[in-house]
Amino acid sequence: MALITWNAEQHETKVAFADDEHKILFDKLNKLYDLATGGAERSNIGSALDDLIAYVVEHFAHEEKEMQAKNYAGYVAHKAEHDALVGICAGLQTKFHAGEGDVTADTGALVKGWLDSHIPTFDRAYESTLNS
Ligand code: FEO
Repeated sequence: MALITWNAEQHETKVAFADDEHKILFDKLNKLYDLATGGAERSNIGSALDDLIAYVVEHFAHEEKEMQAKNYAGYVAHKAEHDALVGICAGLQTKFHAGEGDVTADTGALVKGWLDSHIPTFDRAYESTLNS
């Protein structure tokens, strides 16, 4: 079963690129979660972890570029949120590849919880600015 399912009521921002990218991000998180909780080879889990984190970084950079282009007032606070998650992901990635940590159900729940909070609170707030 999918860890996280995109639904308009909870996740829609009404900014087309963001909604598209969030759906891809959710797919990548679900893939990682399924591999990690399904007993997949460690190398496959590592590849999915790297793929997810690379996409998170790409998505955040895209949002930040769009916010800056529109002089969005909430940019600094929003970027700080992004940087915090990237820091957590980088730590996880380093530990995993050093053989000092695993991707677990708790890891998936942590990222899901972050997205479930960040998208409605921070991403939805830029709708009027980014669509202007
Ligand atoms: Fe869609 Fe601010 O992350």
